[in-house]
Amino acid sequence: MLSLSNAYNQDDLRKFVEGIKEKYQAAEFVVEPKIDGAAVVLTYENGKLVQGATRGDGTNGEDVTHNIRTIRSLPLEIDYTEKLIIRGEVFLPVKSFERINRDKAEKGEKLFANPRNAAAGTLKLLDSKLASERGLDVFIYGLDGTLSGSHAEDLSCLKGVGFPINELTKKFDDSEEIWKHVEHIGSLRDSLEYDIDGAVIKADSRAVQRSLGTTIKSQKWAIAYKYPPKEAETKLLKVDFQVGRTGSITPVAKLEPIKLAGSTISNATLHNEDEIERLGIMEGDWVTIKKGGDVIPKVIRPIIEKRDGSEKQVEFLSSCPVCKSKLVKEETDINRKCINPACPAQVKRALLHFASRKAMDIQGFGEALVNKLVDDRKISDVADIYEKDFDYLIGEDGYGEKSIQKLRDAIAESLSKPFDKVLYGLGLRHVGERTAQVLAERFGDIDSLMSADEEMLVSVRDIGEETAKAIVNSFSNPDLSDIINRLKKSGLSFEAEKIKMDSDVLSGKTFVVTGTLSLPREHFTKLIESNGGKVLSAVSGKLNYLLVGENAGSKLIKAEKLGVDIIDEDGLMKMINGESDV
Ligand code: IVH
Repeated sequence: MLSLSNAYNQDDLRKFVEGIKEKYQAAEFVVEPKIDGAAVVLTYENGKLVQGATRGDGTNGEDVTHNIRTIRSLPLEIDYTEKLIIRGEVFLPVKSFERINRDKAEKGEKLFANPRNAAAGTLKLLDSKLASERGLDVFIYGLDGTLSGSHAEDLSCLKGVGFPINELTKKFDDSEEIWKHVEHIGSLRDSLEYDIDGAVIKADSRAVQRSLGTTIKSQKWAIAYKYPPKEAETKLLKVDFQVGRTGSITPVAKLEPIKLAGSTISNATLHNEDEIERLGIMEGDWVTIKKGGDVIPKVIRPIIEKRDGSEKQVEFLSSCPVCKSKLVKEETDINRKCINPACPAQVKRALLHFASRKAMDIQGFGEALVNKLVDDRKISDVADIYEKDFDYLIGEDGYGEKSIQKLRDAIAESLSKPFDKVLYGLGLRHVGERTAQVLAERFGDIDSLMSADEEMLVSVRDIGEETAKAIVNSFSNPDLSDIINRLKKSGLSFEAEKIKMDSDVLSGKTFVVTGTLSLPREHFTKLIESNGGKVLSAVSGKLNYLLVGENAGSKLIKAEKLGVDIIDEDGLMKMINGESDV
């Protein structure tokens, strides 16, 4: 699926429209709201919905048919028997989104940042009953091929068959009229039942669309106009301080609750102490807050004119608000830090990070449970997860034999996570998902990584000096070594899987590698060569495959022109594993 290029003002939009009109004088345009949800592709065969998939990573969608079926406004059967592939945006109405977050807050679970995340998260649920309760909805905005030769006509045919088409969709031929409608949609933004983040303007004629074509990234016949972020004024009641996973103390603005863009705002991020000083805000100030795509808004500035002398300077803490130990401020840190590793706030964050989806993905090990386990002093570090039984919970706070068994199973299942996930889960400073992958791949096992010095680490692509320092520093901490040893004893993986070597499946084939891949390029070079392929540096007509990552540039354009086969990492792995033809 391609994406849309953006327009940020009337001029950008006019240029887009006039540019097309220069080539096609009679061109007409359709303006529609840009729904802020999750893109889906729905397939109908013999009049029946047979598949619903998400956009996934842009190439491979995820099959979410079971949840798509719960959308009440979507017909499961239609009076049209040809194969039909339609595209649309699944969303959660703002009211449902707020209800879900209220429920989550009550249960102490992590909130969805915005309706878009909530819609995407709901689509991925395994249990379609839960999805059904949440109340997903959809607007259809296009189809593959055409029924009539015009986008507007196509939509009206789809509407005739029973598909939900957004009512604000309208056709125009003049750029002034188009702009007026874009502004009109913008003016309704706060009163709509769904979130929009812009308007989409599309050339109406399919023939015009076809002849305009696409760039590598986007269609040339459509553009998205992005509405400016929304602002509001409210009172800053006080500044609270929270303790992050690494002990970093971050200020949070507590606001007089105010409605902004359909939701009630009572907190805003302040990032760090410097930000408070930069903004020059005081407790009791009237402030302007701004909301981008996320639920958590930002404080933009104080409204100095509204000061009456009762405002107070923000006082920074000298001791941790949770464990009361003395805070330190290191030169390289923006925030003060609580360096007490046993601080319950840090322990909780560390546990949540370790169990999170991108790390060990332990289902059910959420905020409510972690709070309870730490507050009850049952666990105090991540190694405890595998060493303690959780039997004491049975009969408490709604935990039963069944839910505890589920938790035990989820913990046992996490033992099979690969080394890079375990490493990421340890939450070393500056070691995000990708860095963890690179380190696991490069060093192969924890012992080699732990004995690497700064120089060795910096020589790895993508590892900078600061990260290298932080890694060496973390591993010099005996508490971490102790945790790693205990995790090893519990059976977690501290060794990377060896890449599959020594086949000749790619024999006689040439490859060029371009763009940003999930691991350093040398990894793929090695992989291709050890399976009999040859890696070249330049694209030519004789080349067999171009392996592309993100942000591929001129090589991709050239390869497309020359008709070279373009593959991604998955494609390469499939070839090597014999799951697809070479
Ligand atoms: S047309 C050429 N129309 O916005 C691509 N997209 O970057 C076809 N979206 O995730 C997209 N409302 O799912 C189109 N009325 C609308 C839309 C819309 C929301 C989403 C789309 C995609 C993103 C496009």
